[in-house]
Amino acid sequence: MCSADAFYVTTPIYYVNDVPHIGHAYTTLACDTIARFARLDGRRVWFLTGTDEHGQKVEKAAAAAGLESQAFTDQVAERFRELARRMQITNDDFIRTTEARHKAGVQALWRELRRRDQIYLGTYAGWYSVRDESFYAESELVGGLAPTGAPVEWVEEPSYFFRLASWQEPLLRFYEEHPDFVLPAARRNEVISFVKGGLLDLSVSRTSFRWGIPVPDDPDHVIYVWLDALTNYMTALGYPDTDGEPFRSFWPADVHVVGKDILRFHAIYWPAFLLAAGLEPPRRIFAHGWWTNEGQKISKSLGNVIDPLQLIEEYGLDQTRYFLLREVPFGNDGDFSRAAMINRMNRDLANDYGNLVQRVLALIQRNCGGRLPEPGVTTASDRSLLEASASLLDQVRAAMAVQALSRALEAIFELIGAGNRYVDAEAPWALRRTDPARMATVLYTLAETIRRLALLTQPFMPDASARILDQLGVDEGARSLEHYQIAAAALRPGALLPKPVGVFPRFAE
Ligand code: MSP
Repeated sequence: MCSADAFYVTTPIYYVNDVPHIGHAYTTLACDTIARFARLDGRRVWFLTGTDEHGQKVEKAAAAAGLESQAFTDQVAERFRELARRMQITNDDFIRTTEARHKAGVQALWRELRRRDQIYLGTYAGWYSVRDESFYAESELVGGLAPTGAPVEWVEEPSYFFRLASWQEPLLRFYEEHPDFVLPAARRNEVISFVKGGLLDLSVSRTSFRWGIPVPDDPDHVIYVWLDALTNYMTALGYPDTDGEPFRSFWPADVHVVGKDILRFHAIYWPAFLLAAGLEPPRRIFAHGWWTNEGQKISKSLGNVIDPLQLIEEYGLDQTRYFLLREVPFGNDGDFSRAAMINRMNRDLANDYGNLVQRVLALIQRNCGGRLPEPGVTTASDRSLLEASASLLDQVRAAMAVQALSRALEAIFELIGAGNRYVDAEAPWALRRTDPARMATVLYTLAETIRRLALLTQPFMPDASARILDQLGVDEGARSLEHYQIAAAALRPGALLPKPVGVFPRFAE
């Protein structure tokens, strides 16, 4: 049973048949933001990502590259690590399914399922898609292709089966008892109707290729790549050692974030495997949508794959993070377009957030000798801004509790808007001569509002937020959400601030 303050979030592990693209970067960025928020909010976080290195697809890619499978995966896995480094991802671990710790754990799970008579030997005859690494029933095919559009091949081979059919009712009960297990809600309905449609036993081993984890005591078979891959979420915590740290602290996972295309594996197969092995299923599967590029489906053959490193290079890391997390509600599909990206950078970041920070810091610099002014008597408008910032924390927490990342950002940007309107209405630049005491109160109220805003934007835009907090003189040790509202953490009047430097430059074409 996991301890109350522990929080475990995972990305899918990425197939290494391909170089990293925006889809990988997106899931990882979202998880990074979720992990950073939970840490900031005082949770003990474990954030896992990694690579999925077995299966026919990878075996074929290695052969095409003229390399041994292991040498090939060593090379490509490194690119995923590199991407995580370049994106300043704060993962606590990076698991590769070719590691000994993982293989041993998968074999242990297999043995446990065998011991409980959840796996039996039979023969598989049916359709298989290498691209999806998925079996399909005849009835699921659309015009001779997988429902995903991937080609399928007829496979007939001895195979072990997992008794998935017998888990239909327990799974439906489980979804019923855990209404937030699958988010967003529309996806939950899809999962439930799929399960209601009837489940067949699942083929969980293959004999027609070699690149996988051998089935214990039957080395002609390798374990089906999805049973292998899903287990990473536990082997990274030391499974089968369920009594040891960190398994005891962090299992069950709080949230597995996945793309909508791999929901079935996570929301149906995975809890079934776990229930069958007497283990607790994760608390939540969150399925996000897919990105298109300028309105077009992203595909290698169209040559429109978006390289996340190029985005970062061109627009900046925080800007890329902001765009991807703000542009569409997390869970929906989204379209990447250069115009939309530049619009978000210039409108939201430069004009709204950047401008608020810049105006206030520049006025403090110019009109208060660079020292935080001492607030005096407050008016209703000051209090209303401060109250809005006080209630923002709960709104953001509530949104983050259901991974509503864009909703959290919208709420934050509403306060930024309110801050800008307050500056315009109070016109502190004009108060310097007419009412300096009032100017001091207005600028202090604004600086304090910006402190809170920057605390909350840290998980989304870590660098820019840190630079804003630096410019407000907020100590490194006072940047967690514990410091959001307490009086002792508020900005200290009289403190000398560094010369302000803009953090959100306009993007000029
Ligand atoms: N290896 C499996 C996952 C195993 S998890 C136990 C896998 N890997 S993948 O590399 O193909 O995909 C990783 C993720 O990238 C998926 O969550 C997928 O949804 C996501 N994306 C791939 N293309 C995408 C877009 N165009 N847009 C957004 N995400 C997309 O599946």
